[in-house]
This record gives sequence, C-alpha cells and structure tokens, in this order.
Amino acid sequence: MEDKLKLISRYPRSRDHILLILHELQRHNPRNCLEPEDLKLVAEYLGIPLSQVHDTVTFYSMFSLKPRGKHVIRVCDSPPCRMAGSTSIIASLRELLGIDVGETTPDGLFTLEVVQCLGVCGVAPVMMVDEEVYGNLTEERLREIIASYRERSGKEAG
Ligand code: FES
Repeated sequence: MEDKLKLISRYPRSRDHILLILHELQRHNPRNCLEPEDLKLVAEYLGIPLSQVHDTVTFYSMFSLKPRGKHVIRVCDSPPCRMAGSTSIIASLRELLGIDVGETTPDGLFTLEVVQCLGVCGVAPVMMVDEEVYGNLTEERLREIIASYRERSGKEAG
C-alpha cells in the first residue's frame, strides 16, 4: 500500500487528477485492473467519497475492476464502425483468440472488450490494443496484428 501511495504522491491532491491517478495505479498492476484497495486509497488521498471514485471507474471503459490480460483489445461497435463491418471483426477476434467478449485468453495475453466510439470513425472499423489504434481493419490485418503481439510476447518471455 505504501508503494502505491508513493506512486500517486507525485500528483496534486486534487479531484482534477483522478483519471491520471487511477491510470497510474492500473498501469502498475500486473493484473491490469484496479483493486478495491486502490479505490480506497484514491478516495483517501483526494479526500472524496469512495462512491465518487467507484462511479468514475465504472464510467470509463478504460478502467476495469476485473483482472485483465497483458493486452486489452477494445473493438468499437458504434454504428459507423458497425456499418463498416465491426460485427465480423468481433467474430474473427473471438475465433482467433478462442474467447468471448469480456474474457481473457488462458495464457493471460489478451482480454477482448467491445466499446463505444473510439473517436476515429474515419478509419472504421477500428480497435485499440492498449494505447495503439488500428483502423481499416480486415480479417487479414487482424491476423497480422494478433500474431505480432504473440511474437513480441514470445520474445519477451524467451
Ligand atoms: S464509431 Fe467506431 S470509432 Fe467512432
């Protein structure tokens, strides 16, 4: 807990910094999520009610209270992306990864999520892997992207 306090203490104790603070805590968690103790810590640090921190965390899709894989794939399924084929992109990802939306691959490498507009509709259909945006997706492109992450993680492990 002390380590976490150290981690966030470079941020001013102002509610304006709540997103940055939550990000910092999530980023440093190997389970890629926020723990109940993190929410308590942020509430105490900022001097705001725990319910307010909880509301913030559940409002933003980038935060999770459930453990997630090393890489989080977020596919947009808002109407412009759906018109450009996001339904089949999601189906292909489920098949490629062998998991359903909301699940994590058994090797802990990927979690698949479906989200609303990512703000880059001009290159629909779109997904993000962590902070990286991938647009104009096709099935072939998906295979390449997933393979590149698998390869990278194999190299890191080896
Ligand atoms: S609708 Fe998909 S990025 Fe906007």
